Amino acid sequence: MKQHIAIDGPAGAGKSTVARGVAKKLGYLYLDTGALYRALTLHFLRKGLDPGIPNLENVLSEVNISLESSGDGTKVVLNGEDVTVLIRSPEVDRMVSRVAESKGVRDFLRGIQRTLALSKPSVVEGRDIGTVILPEADLKIFLTAKPEVRAYRRWLELRARGNTVDYKRVLKNILERDMIDSSRQHAPLKKADDAVLIDTSFLTIEEVIHKIYTLAVGEGNGRCGD
Ligand code: CDP
Repeated sequence: MKQHIAIDGPAGAGKSTVARGVAKKLGYLYLDTGALYRALTLHFLRKGLDPGIPNLENVLSEVNISLESSGDGTKVVLNGEDVTVLIRSPEVDRMVSRVAESKGVRDFLRGIQRTLALSKPSVVEGRDIGTVILPEADLKIFLTAKPEVRAYRRWLELRARGNTVDYKRVLKNILERDMIDSSRQHAPLKKADDAVLIDTSFLTIEEVIHKIYTLAVGEGNGRCGD
């Protein structure tokens, strides 16, 4: 049985839903590392700060972010305030990849992620989990899907939350974030050599969860229906 499962991939590939589903099925801790970057981004937005500022340490020293399991999801707490809903806004979507480019930010969040991930058997999702945060993970998955499919999923998600954003703007944001995330200097989004690639464009969530679960428990070859 695999103890630490890393799931990386671009926005809208289905990471969060799939990672949560796999964690639930295995009884493992689910860790959404993007939520940490999002919470920090909300802090920057509120303070009107640019992620490129020179004295970043001073800003980071006044930030306390924690993730708490709540029901099926994760409650995100920023300096004592529940920001779970606020970190999913289009404003945060627009700025988060710029904050995540900063080496200072990544170093700051690395320790938090490793401590949480190694505290229990876990399913950890993000962009650099298999490559940088948990290179020792015993199962690595790289989830992807066609950009149009990813944008459509994100658009549905935003609409369900009451955000009436234009589909084309969502696609543009996804493509921009893909570009920044994949080309940044520090810990870019890329498939680890030993990761299993899964294209979710034409798979249901249940099929993807089943595939990863099967790989985690070491049964069959991960083909749906095994
Ligand atoms: O949910 P979605 O895939 O859109 O994004 P997320 O997982 O919430 O992550 C938001 C952003 O944080 C990403 O676009 C990355 O810029 C950054 N991120 C990162 O750099 N490294 C991670 N491990 C997780 C997120």
